[in-house]
Amino acid sequence: MTVHTAADKYTPFPPVALADRRWPSRAITHAPAWCSVDLRDGNQALVTPMDAAKKRRMWDLLVDMGFGQIEVGFPSASDTEYGFVRQLIDGGLIPDGVTVQVLTPARQPHIRRTFEALAGARRAIVHLYNSTSTVQREVVFGMDREQVTALAVRGARWMAEEAARHPGTEWVFEYSPESFTGTEPDFAAHVVNAVLDVWRPTADRPAIVNLPATVEMATPNVFADQVEWLARHIARRDAVILSVHPHNDRGTAVAAAELAMMAGAQRVEGTLFGNGERTGNVDIVTLALNLHTQGIDPGLEVADVDRIAAIAAGCTGIGVHPRHPYAGELVFTAFSGSHQDAIRKGLAAQAQGAPWRVPYLPIDPADVGRDYKAVVRVNSQSGKGGAAFLLERGRGIDLPRPWQIDLGARVKQATDPSGTELDADGIWELFSAAYVNVRAPWAMGPRRHTAAEAGPGRVRIDASLSRNGRTVTVSGHGAGPVAAFADALAGVLGVTPVVDDYREQALGTGADATALALVTARLGDGPATLGAGVDADITRAALLALLAAVNRAL
Ligand code: KIV
Ligand code: ZN
Repeated sequence: MTVHTAADKYTPFPPVALADRRWPSRAITHAPAWCSVDLRDGNQALVTPMDAAKKRRMWDLLVDMGFGQIEVGFPSASDTEYGFVRQLIDGGLIPDGVTVQVLTPARQPHIRRTFEALAGARRAIVHLYNSTSTVQREVVFGMDREQVTALAVRGARWMAEEAARHPGTEWVFEYSPESFTGTEPDFAAHVVNAVLDVWRPTADRPAIVNLPATVEMATPNVFADQVEWLARHIARRDAVILSVHPHNDRGTAVAAAELAMMAGAQRVEGTLFGNGERTGNVDIVTLALNLHTQGIDPGLEVADVDRIAAIAAGCTGIGVHPRHPYAGELVFTAFSGSHQDAIRKGLAAQAQGAPWRVPYLPIDPADVGRDYKAVVRVNSQSGKGGAAFLLERGRGIDLPRPWQIDLGARVKQATDPSGTELDADGIWELFSAAYVNVRAPWAMGPRRHTAAEAGPGRVRIDASLSRNGRTVTVSGHGAGPVAAFADALAGVLGVTPVVDDYREQALGTGADATALALVTARLGDGPATLGAGVDADITRAALLALLAAVNRAL
């Protein structure tokens, strides 16, 4: 019995006949030429298209980021876009290293108006497209292959004629067989070669052949096959800059662009964070940062990713998902204890200037403007390492392991029931409440302690202590203030606390620095107890730490 499912209406994408494909054994060694299509493809996909001010903001951002080619619109189709192109040219807003690109269909009035829009530009790319796929030919246009080829050729001729009428501009021609991924490879090559026969590009004056995955229809290896197949069948390969324009219908546009580069693509058209029609265009920020992580200069300024994301969101009304590669709020964050521990150790072992080798972090978050707060965040999933990391980075506190274990358990308790998160300040508050200067049952009295030399290598401590409003003065001797104070405490406790561990460190720097003392002590045969003291005076901090440990033990 045959079982029919909803998937039966789809047919698998046919493989490309390319048995000797070469792209799988190639590597990407340099960045492609980038072309941003945010102001055209990206803009035409917005619920509310950008107004003039937003377009200008996006333009300024793209220029700042170092894009050499920017598609600014479809001037023959929209007065707003025509006006924007004029604003850029008339306002002298196109820097020397930047070439504007505009899109036009293969229709004479559109081509004429497109060239008018560009009058006075120093250099411009005119991007001609017509759809070539089987389904568009058959279902949408009712045209056969020759009619579709003739349309492209006529468009190419009109462009050449218009360019000749405007010799003051350095013209670059681009052709896209739109819906390339749904076009039979031999027909795509036929149309492209027919257009190139009209334009007759040379190695010195190349044309751009742009292969759009107008709809992403197959796995990225198939797109790479299509690109390599076409690259091998272009008549004037050395006179062509091969470009790709992947959309992201299957969620693999980035992979498709990367494999296409291996297959010979020299140029990539895409948008910031993958804005664009349906699931968007390929995300150039991700592509650029992927190159960066392979030691390849992407040739784009993408380090200030949060600023780029904020401006892009302001222009498009679309924010960046928290899990978006490189730019999302959570993409460097470890909540889990074991990951935090590995990151902490990795960061500690990472020498300045050495190759990056930190577990769970494919890129140094600092390269995209993120600090330690983005890397380790503490909630109930986290272990001792996370809290220790935040205290270390946020407060400069180096906690010994027993302290990390004890504090880790408190952090778990504090975060578990509410599902809340603790930052460095929250962890410090928890730490302070639990361990620092604990004043009950015994508090340091109103009079300050005195410490004096009591013979070679001996210290005498006199201190006042109060309990329930009653103040007593205690005295003791020892090798140092902590030992002397332990001796003094025997006067009220009846037993001398045993100090297992004592250490001190500075909190803050310069004149504002205070001392943090950490003591591990036992009373009789009781368990080891932790106590911390904080004071501007280092000796007092030490005594407060011992008293905190004793109080906690009591
Ligand atoms: O996706 C597409 O095919 C396009 C073309 C106009 C290049 O945007
Ligand atoms: Zn597109």
